[in-house]
Amino acid sequence: MSDDILFSPLKLSRNLEIKNRVLRSNISGRFDNEDGSLTQTRINWETKFAQGGVGAIISSYVPVLMEGRIIAGYATIHSDEFIPLWKTLGNAVQEHGAKFILQLSHSGRQMDLPGVHNQMRPSLSATSNAETLHGFLCRAMSQGEIAWLVRAFAEGARRAQDAGLDGVELHAANGYLFTQFLSSGINDRTDGYGGSLRNRARFLLEVIAAIRETVGRDFHLQVKLSAVDRNNVLPWEKKGNDLTDTIQVAQWCEVLGADAIHVSTGSLFPHPLNPPGDLPLELLAVTYDAMISSGVHGFRNFLLFRYPMLRPIFRWLWFRMKRGLPVEGVSRNEAAAIRAAVTIPVISTGGYQSASLIREGLENGEFDAVAIARSLVANNDLVKQWAAGADLPERPCTYCNKCLLNAPKNPMGCYEEARFESYQAMIDEIMTIYTPRSRLVIPR
Ligand SMILES: Cc1cc2nc3c(=O)[nH]c(=O)nc-3n(C[C@H](O)[C@H](O)[C@H](O)COP(=O)(O)O)c2cc1C
Repeated sequence: MSDDILFSPLKLSRNLEIKNRVLRSNISGRFDNEDGSLTQTRINWETKFAQGGVGAIISSYVPVLMEGRIIAGYATIHSDEFIPLWKTLGNAVQEHGAKFILQLSHSGRQMDLPGVHNQMRPSLSATSNAETLHGFLCRAMSQGEIAWLVRAFAEGARRAQDAGLDGVELHAANGYLFTQFLSSGINDRTDGYGGSLRNRARFLLEVIAAIRETVGRDFHLQVKLSAVDRNNVLPWEKKGNDLTDTIQVAQWCEVLGADAIHVSTGSLFPHPLNPPGDLPLELLAVTYDAMISSGVHGFRNFLLFRYPMLRPIFRWLWFRMKRGLPVEGVSRNEAAAIRAAVTIPVISTGGYQSASLIREGLENGEFDAVAIARSLVANNDLVKQWAAGADLPERPCTYCNKCLLNAPKNPMGCYEEARFESYQAMIDEIMTIYTPRSRLVIPR
């Protein structure tokens, strides 16, 4: 056992122990096929981080139904046919000593690029009000549809278990379907799924109960929550939940059988505080065109990004709530407040990159582990660099968010040219996702 708390094992649940305190946080990218089947590229991508030394990988956003995709070309878990593919991916990661947790998701109204399956139909949500920033259209789910969704999540968990994966995470953060039910700023229902916090949490809690009934008590189940979704980008939007609400929801999740809570923040994704850092509007003008037709405010936003004279308006809206907040550990205080109120492990996400800061949070009991996305995109072997004594990597992530803004159109990787010797060196590194790194490959 290591004396270094960062490298000490963590028992995340009855049957799941990870070898250190670092999880690769969820990262979506267009790795997969239009029918939802995952590809060798995804296996290559995930294996990079397993080789780099993380204790566990939490997958990208994985829809439980085709109707819940955020972007076409992301793998789904809506069909038993895909179980062998997920098994191959899980085994490839596990072979390198890392665990693999699959994020069960549904977009609700936050659907960026509908793809052929969802074109021309409003997505399902807790409300019929269009999403405010991009203007995505939606329709309130009937109670029959809610029951169908509860079943779909339970079936997704069952498929993950059948594939030999190490657990599942419910994506109840960042503006996606569960958040649309949880949020007092979005949920305007008058039935048993709207009104009081308990009613707004009912859908999530029914899903947890259904998953437990289906996979038993021993399969790992964690819930990703936005600690605060009151932090709207547009000042005139109705305010959502605060930290006190989320603490209560986390406690209910624990009572119903959640094994861990993954603490994020923000009323939508992306959000000024998630992922924290810059927002290069010049780049957004290049990639946002893919989204213009998805929501009724797409063209308005595109104009704000496209014309330098208009950019200050958006920059003011985006950056006003970040004043005084650090990038590293941006929601650390919220994670600590939730950890103090539950008895299950708490994973904190948001900007982590310095080993010393993570050690401090672990030693203070603020969280039990961290989940990292962008610093690992920049340095896939960050954990190994820490183990070799570094506090920060030699070429650190700059939090430029270019990986994020390239995601709708381009292969996933680090697009911060300043971190590389040349543009070509950057492209060469991005292209490594096409190189298999495991003996486990999908037969062609
Ligand atoms: C390119 C990219 C894709 C992401 N995809 C997901 C996702 O599919 N599901 C999710 O819950 N969070 C997603 N996130 C959020 C991250 O998991 C993480 O919580 C957030 O970026 C803050 O961590 P970081 O500062 O270490 O990047 C994504 C972030 C980035 C940068």
